[in-house]
Amino acid sequence: MVDFSSLAQKYGTPLYVYNFDVIAQKFVALKEAFKARKSLVCFAVKANSNLSVLKHIASLGAGCDCVSIGEVKRALHVGIPKYKIIFSGVGKRDDEIEEALKNDILMINLESEEEMGRVEMIAKALGIVARISIRVNPNIDAQTHPYISTGLHENKFGVDIDSAKRMYIQAKNSAFLDPVGIHFHIGSQITQIEPFREAALVLANLVRNLKSLKIDIKFFDIGGGVGIQYKDEITIPLYDYAQAIFSALQGLDVTLVCEPGRYLVGDSGYFLTRVLYEKHNGHKRFVIVDGAMNDLIRPSLYGAYHEIEAFGKEEGETSLADVVGPICESGDFFAKNVELPRLEHDDLLVIKSAGAYGFTMSSNYNSRNRVAEIALEAGKDRVIRKRESFEDLIDLEKEYV
Ligand code: LLP
Repeated sequence: MVDFSSLAQKYGTPLYVYNFDVIAQKFVALKEAFKARKSLVCFAVKANSNLSVLKHIASLGAGCDCVSIGEVKRALHVGIPKYKIIFSGVGKRDDEIEEALKNDILMINLESEEEMGRVEMIAKALGIVARISIRVNPNIDAQTHPYISTGLHENKFGVDIDSAKRMYIQAKNSAFLDPVGIHFHIGSQITQIEPFREAALVLANLVRNLKSLKIDIKFFDIGGGVGIQYKDEITIPLYDYAQAIFSALQGLDVTLVCEPGRYLVGDSGYFLTRVLYEKHNGHKRFVIVDGAMNDLIRPSLYGAYHEIEAFGKEEGETSLADVVGPICESGDFFAKNVELPRLEHDDLLVIKSAGAYGFTMSSNYNSRNRVAEIALEAGKDRVIRKRESFEDLIDLEKEYV
């Protein structure tokens, strides 16, 4: 049991806390599920890009899936081997492609024919061969929130099977492209196994097809997307997930690559915020806290549910309340109509499952300093990002006034 009260006292609030031991457990469980095959786990950096989190993940043996050159550089900075780094994303600038190629990372995931043209041109100018993978959009409904569903043709991601095939043939005939991988990522927070099974089957068939054209795919990248339990979702058993993929891959000698983000770090994280005051507008009860949507935007943006615990106040009568932040928007809330005990100034709320897409999606809106991040490991706590100061806020502007 984590003593959130001491942590809040020691480091102040609002605060992100990540339990590194939980991340390690999640990683080991995933590797265990995949152990019947060669596999490479590339953590989706966008979920949590703190350098110490990445270093911890590197120490476990994971690589990184990056969607900007900034993320690639973070991964390299903490010593993730270049041969474990993938560069994905629907739009990459020329300078990002060039830097990724110069760094000789494992592969660039391509999402359009135009992008392949740019990568080929840049590789040619550098006099190197670019290892590439193609993100196939299998037109499968991941049955998740529309904002985080990515595997349908109506989504902007990847290319359809026919275009992919054409691109592979073109890449094989290019002196500057080496088509080593195939990729799908159909969405996030997925709790059904079927969409994964279907996507894997579709892509495995394409791999067989390509083999007959003497195009030998070495890396089969199944993306991320495995959901976690925020409320009462029934998550996918990892063993079943792995078996579904394995059965699609029968007879194929490929290294399995996966890109989990939320699965690895989501459950490890807590967002700590203190009550400023309670307020009633008519019958409506509001608990106003010192954290806000700029710190954790998931409830505002997706209507996402995060369990909230009133720390040390487990007993006693409860009533319905909205938990809201100080930002000047009605959309600034962490929860609506949740049962909470009567709360007072300085009471601590612990917002759970906040390790993924929490801090990374935070901003300085309303000139609020971004909060500190803390790691818990083997019973010890330490700062992994200090709280921003007012000086940090104005640092890039002050010389111009
Ligand atoms: N690979 C690719 C190419 C991705 O686009 C993503 C996530 C992942 C892997 C990792 O997916 P995960 O395992 O975390 O589901 N901000 C949203 C989630 C956006 C996900 C974007 N792509 C949220 O807070 O729910």
